[in-house]
Amino acid sequence: MGQKGREIVESDIKEVLDDLNSAFADEWLSHYQYFLYAQVIKGIDADALKKELEKQSMDELGHAKILSDRIIQLGSTPTVNIMETSTCGFLPPPEDRTDIKSIIKLVLESERCAIEKYNKLAKKYHMKDLVTHEIFEDLLNDEVSDEQDWEDFLPV
Ligand SMILES: [Fe+2]
Ligand SMILES: [Fe+2]
Repeated sequence: MGQKGREIVESDIKEVLDDLNSAFADEWLSHYQYFLYAQVIKGIDADALKKELEKQSMDELGHAKILSDRIIQLGSTPTVNIMETSTCGFLPPPEDRTDIKSIIKLVLESERCAIEKYNKLAKKYHMKDLVTHEIFEDLLNDEVSDEQDWEDFLPV
């Protein structure tokens, strides 16, 4: 990263990178999780949900890309230790592949973990590292809207 770009970060760069990598790992696992759900679900309502899961999976990959860009901009390389670095983790699909309700609940669990994390991180870097702050804020915004979308899918 450029000299001035580094100077304006009023936080320990190592700590910023750890937080960015942790979010990066979460996004990869969400990407993989939703991709996997899309592949394995079956049953009468599976088709519409499959498309949504695939779209959601690509959105999370887009988030991983945004975080990766910032990590590289700060002069580092995104982590290769995805499982160890993630705090939201990976939720395997339910054994019953037709259990649409459980799949949606698992997606919601992941989205809510992301919301909590980005809310914390956006606050943490407010007034300290505005570029990183804005990234976490934008991602928070996306995850809040994801949660709403998936809540709307829940069968009543
Ligand atoms: Fe995400
Ligand atoms: Fe999301």
